[in-house]
Amino acid sequence: MKLRVDGLSVRFHLPGAEVHAVTDARFELREGRCLALVGESGCGKSVMAHALLGLLPGNATVTGHAWLDSLDLVNAPEKVLARQIRGRRIGLIPQSPAAHLTPVRTARAQLAETLRELGRDETPESVAARAGLRPADLARYPHQLSGGMAQRVANALALAGDPPLIIADEPTSGLDRPLVDATMAELRRLCDEGRAVLIITHDLRAAEQVADDLAVMYAGRVVELAQADNFFAGPRHPYSRGLLDALPSRAFAPIPGQPPELTRLPGGCAFQPRCHLATSLCQEQPPLNEVACHHA
Ligand SMILES: Nc1ncnc2c1ncn2[C@@H]1O[C@H](COP(=O)(O)OP(=O)(O)OP(=O)(O)O)[C@@H](O)[C@H]1O
Ligand SMILES: [Mg+2]
Repeated sequence: MKLRVDGLSVRFHLPGAEVHAVTDARFELREGRCLALVGESGCGKSVMAHALLGLLPGNATVTGHAWLDSLDLVNAPEKVLARQIRGRRIGLIPQSPAAHLTPVRTARAQLAETLRELGRDETPESVAARAGLRPADLARYPHQLSGGMAQRVANALALAGDPPLIIADEPTSGLDRPLVDATMAELRRLCDEGRAVLIITHDLRAAEQVADDLAVMYAGRVVELAQADNFFAGPRHPYSRGLLDALPSRAFAPIPGQPPELTRLPGGCAFQPRCHLATSLCQEQPPLNEVACHHA
């Protein structure tokens, strides 16, 4: 299994404005590897995940390609995505899982329904056990689940169809450190069993725990692709360096300024207004390399 995202762009059309949510994104992910997609809030991470699964609303236009082996997810008909891809070949663990559970149905009922839709003759209990839930937890309604339990139900739902590719969107937000560690260990295990895992996170420490590779997004673009070891030893894009320097365990120095509005992106490098290396060269869009920076 291989996912190859190539020149993927997403635009949202609003009255009087266009949101450049994802621009010319590219990365690759293979079975047995874990890629962490990192970047500040609003940079386009969730939109990218939803674009891969055909889950964007009607005001979105997606261009470019996202090859899952020989199938282009961007241009695949909805019927193919619904019957062959979602839940079967790609499992999505959504951001804020509690919000995606149906409030009036127990965890067991939701798991049973998903298993039925996928045509699997496994019991909810056995799928739940793999996600670290006890049978008693399954009788609960979403409002009776703690954040950590809701996360595990979401994991169980995403894994019910045993998909070879798992996309986990902020799987640790709102969890305390022990649960973060447990969730990350679980995702690593899925990966070591031969699945491909895409983790979307702004928790760089969590990314460091599990990722083989990193993709850094800024203002809708992938600005750095690196092996995790190399990245944490010495990131190359000034934005990546800023992200690492902002960590409490490092310099604890935030990047000055704010990311640009995606409806009004500056010409050239979008990071330039916040970058201490910026020169007149940066008025031009940097070439699409592993590091999209004129000064890297
Ligand atoms: N349906 C939509 N219509 C218009 N704009 C949207 C829509 N959905 C998302 N956006 C915009 O797309 C941009 C990227 O959003 P996205 O949810 O991908 O960010 P993110 O990187 O996942 O952030 P976070 O880390 O906070 O989850 C944001 O500017 C957001 O406002
Ligand atoms: Mg998001």
